[in-house]
Amino acid sequence: MKICVMPGDGIGPEIMEQGVKVLNVIGEKFGHKFETTEALIGGAAIDATGGPLPEETVKACKESDAVLLGAVGGPKWDTIDPAIRPERGLLGIRKELSLFANLRPAALFSELKDACYLRADIVEKGLDVMVVRELTGGIYFGEPRGTKTENGERMGYNTMVYYEHEVKRIAKVAFEAAMKRDKRLCSVDKANVLDVSRVWREIVIEVSEEYPEVELTHMYVDNAAMQLVRDPSQFDVIVTGNLFGDILSDAAAAITGSIGMLPSASLGASNPGLYEPIHGSAPDIAGENKANPLATILSIAMMLRYSFNMAEEADCIEAAVEKTLAEGLRTGDIMDEGGKLVGCTEMGEAVIKNL
Ligand code: IPM
Ligand code: MG
Repeated sequence: MKICVMPGDGIGPEIMEQGVKVLNVIGEKFGHKFETTEALIGGAAIDATGGPLPEETVKACKESDAVLLGAVGGPKWDTIDPAIRPERGLLGIRKELSLFANLRPAALFSELKDACYLRADIVEKGLDVMVVRELTGGIYFGEPRGTKTENGERMGYNTMVYYEHEVKRIAKVAFEAAMKRDKRLCSVDKANVLDVSRVWREIVIEVSEEYPEVELTHMYVDNAAMQLVRDPSQFDVIVTGNLFGDILSDAAAAITGSIGMLPSASLGASNPGLYEPIHGSAPDIAGENKANPLATILSIAMMLRYSFNMAEEADCIEAAVEKTLAEGLRTGDIMDEGGKLVGCTEMGEAVIKNL
């Protein structure tokens, strides 16, 4: 299995180093050969080549069976031409690989329930949400877009657009995910205001006819943001567009108390899947051995599960992470009373010991 590894910027390289070590140990333990190649993306690619997504990176990804990504971006590149910002590298590779489905599970590790921001009586009802975010369409990519000066005044504009085939395929992914979980799907839109949302809702309802066992509900995005905080137990799978999914998945992650814990998978119809932690590049702690590598390690578990059908291997990683947490090891972001503060490297090594 060929895996393209893109550490990226900020804490990307350090969390990825721990992730790759875990992957190699899994390979030895289960008798698999994981061949990794590194590629540049984001700020690291800008510094080396002048652009955030070099041709060689796209080629290396396309030739792989799966792609692992750390994080992109940082203050160093905040003032450069927006057309070559580090984030463009990430958006570009999602588009190049047609990774239209972004799965972002937000669940609470029982060992971390004290880190959760919600009241104990709310958490008790359960917190296990899968956000299925459309990733290659919507307002992120819609045309026309741009900035201009009109009548001496500056203006900027983007277009939120969804085609039927885009809604259909993401709805299918979400219904399939719901079938494997609690069979409840909530489609989030803004159909009380946006035309694009009315089309979205219509098509999701049509797709639902193929999944009579799944209970489909609809919610406006503003209400969904509130309900996620008020009573997340009402959600099983959420399906939504690119921008709403970006926002709601951060909210869903944050209420678990630990954005440093959550993995994600971006999948297309046939291209290699891309796996990345949902947190960012955390430039403020980069290079200080303070980052939490667990979201990256759990992203590798998702890769094994979704791209390579290695459920046992994925379970092994997830169990090792839980065991490590149960032993009380904590990076700064998930530190609690009685926890033992460790760095990125120590956390990675503890997980390896527990594999
Ligand atoms: C995410 C990030 C990206 C996004 C940025 C870095 C371009 O916020 O993966 O959620 O907006 O999709
Ligand atoms: Mg985001």
